[in-house]
Amino acid sequence: MKIGIIGSGNMGRSLGILWAEQQHEVFFGARTKEKGQAVAESAGNNTQGGTNDEVAAFGDVLLYTIRGVNPAEVLTSIDVLDGKILIDCNNYEIPENFAYQAIEYSLAEKLAEQVPQARVVKAFNTMAQEVFELSPQPLKEYNVSVFVAGDEDDARKIVMSLAADIGFAPVDCGELRFARLLEGLGDFIRYLIIGQKMGSYTTISINTLPEAKNQRLGGRQASSLQ
Ligand SMILES: NC(=O)c1ccc[n+]([C@@H]2O[C@H](COP(=O)([O-])OP(=O)(O)OC[C@H]3O[C@@H](n4cnc5c(N)ncnc54)[C@H](OP(=O)(O)O)[C@@H]3O)[C@@H](O)[C@H]2O)c1
Repeated sequence: MKIGIIGSGNMGRSLGILWAEQQHEVFFGARTKEKGQAVAESAGNNTQGGTNDEVAAFGDVLLYTIRGVNPAEVLTSIDVLDGKILIDCNNYEIPENFAYQAIEYSLAEKLAEQVPQARVVKAFNTMAQEVFELSPQPLKEYNVSVFVAGDEDDARKIVMSLAADIGFAPVDCGELRFARLLEGLGDFIRYLIIGQKMGSYTTISINTLPEAKNQRLGGRQASSLQ
């Protein structure tokens, strides 16, 4: 798959290298051609580098790592994004003393509003960059979830398969509006990592357990509460 990285910082560089290791074609982008090329040079694995404009034209799937910046300010024209999958891995800036506000509208939904012809998918916002170092092994053994939300089934499926390629366990979270929950979860994980000093390798794995054979607690009874 042709994958473009718009903004090749910690997240962009890491995910790009991992996808390139899995034989995807990766193009790293930055504000200057030189920086994009330098990232590609150090990444190796037949990657290319250049401007964010070049990246946007190249990729069928694009990773957007630029928090809160309208793509219209990053690219010469956003028309180039029409029909493309745009993965949004962003989280809000951590507020002082972790005094989070409830997320009424997610960064991913804002991005989708700014580029309505792109297929925005939320993913990769609930683990720190350090976790990527473990990909694909021993990461696979830990069943680390990548939560994927987006309005189009096909786009979600593609992003889920890109997550599986590098050793994660993708979780289909449905429509893009559920990015509100995922961004809240990203905030919570960062609170554990930094606020509770649990460290950068703290992340989340969803488990669906096997049904209990013997329901000795009487099973779920009808309730007036939802
Ligand atoms: N780092 C993590 O562990 C982690 C984990 C999960 C989610 N996230 C989220 O992922 C996002 C990126 O994090 P990161 O750690 O990769 O950040 P980063 O290392 O600072 O990279 C962000 C990139 O954005 C680009 N950029 C910033 N402002 C720009 C602008 N006005 N126009 C064009 N490009 C601009 C920079 O590009 P240039 O190279 O051109 O300067 C930079 O490479 C954040 O929203 C963060 O919350 C991060």
